[in-house]
Amino acid sequence: MKPSVILYKTLPDDLLQRLEDHFTVTQVKNLHPETVEQHAEAFAHAVGLLGSSEKVDVALLEKMPVLRATSTVSVGYDNFDVDALNARNILLMHTPTVLTETVADTLMTLVLSTARRVVEVAERVKAGEWTKSIGPDWFGVDVHHKTLGIVGMGRIGMALAQRAHFGFNMPILYHARRRHEAAETRFNARYCDLDTLLQEADFVCLILPLTDETRHLFGAEQFKKMKSSAIFINAGRGPVVDESALIAALQQGEIHAAGLDVFEKEPLPVDSPLLSLPNVVALPHIGSATHETRYNMAATAVDNLIDALNGKVDKNCVNPQVV
Ligand code: GLV
Ligand code: GLV
Repeated sequence: MKPSVILYKTLPDDLLQRLEDHFTVTQVKNLHPETVEQHAEAFAHAVGLLGSSEKVDVALLEKMPVLRATSTVSVGYDNFDVDALNARNILLMHTPTVLTETVADTLMTLVLSTARRVVEVAERVKAGEWTKSIGPDWFGVDVHHKTLGIVGMGRIGMALAQRAHFGFNMPILYHARRRHEAAETRFNARYCDLDTLLQEADFVCLILPLTDETRHLFGAEQFKKMKSSAIFINAGRGPVVDESALIAALQQGEIHAAGLDVFEKEPLPVDSPLLSLPNVVALPHIGSATHETRYNMAATAVDNLIDALNGKVDKNCVNPQVV
């Protein structure tokens, strides 16, 4: 008999087949308590769990007494109670490498679209406002040769630095927990403390996971330290920023603009003040959302679960110490 797994995400047919070659798969809509109740038997027998975005907490784990591995179709895993997984020796697998270049493209998109006001002016064209040659009220600011500040120099930060350095001739500052030698030698990136970065950068790009240390790392104080011409970009996790402080900083002109792919609450409520600010580009968490990359992430997550349940945890494992 094949081991049982719970799938809480829609997979392309070929990947579902790959999963079914190895496991008896019970597919569910989500991991809400009602859903778990409805499929109690399947949850009780599942050794694997695969999906994304839903909360995986103690309450869920208590319904899954034989669970051995979880696999998320994402790089971020702040929705998992990792301590609870560790305490039960349950592996957590994620997809760190396959999305790096795509997320870096998204970051560059935010840099360019905020600086050049792409969304705003395109909307004005659609509204029929382009009736004569354009004047300064349509102009943006340059990106090339401006100073890029990267907060969080992981794989994605590196891929952004590569684009900025070679493609846009941007001097790069970075702040991270550790010095990143390759960033310094390849992209001439300069390590600095957060305050220096905030004071000197024209673009402040936040690419941090959400942890106890990063929650609300950016608040009123940080925005005040930024240049009034600075553009703030966040494509990591929303709660790393105190969103009400960001809104106030934008409203008071403490910073020039913001490009955001992530928010404290997602989907972003339609009445968010962010949506009435012309200098905000708000994207629906599309960092990795291309057909190619989402396919590759799903394939990686399927392989990760197969590997984990076969005791192969040499890569993509958040907590290999539990085996
Ligand atoms: C997306 O935000 C991810 O964590 O993969
Ligand atoms: C994500 O893969 C990162 O390390 O930034």
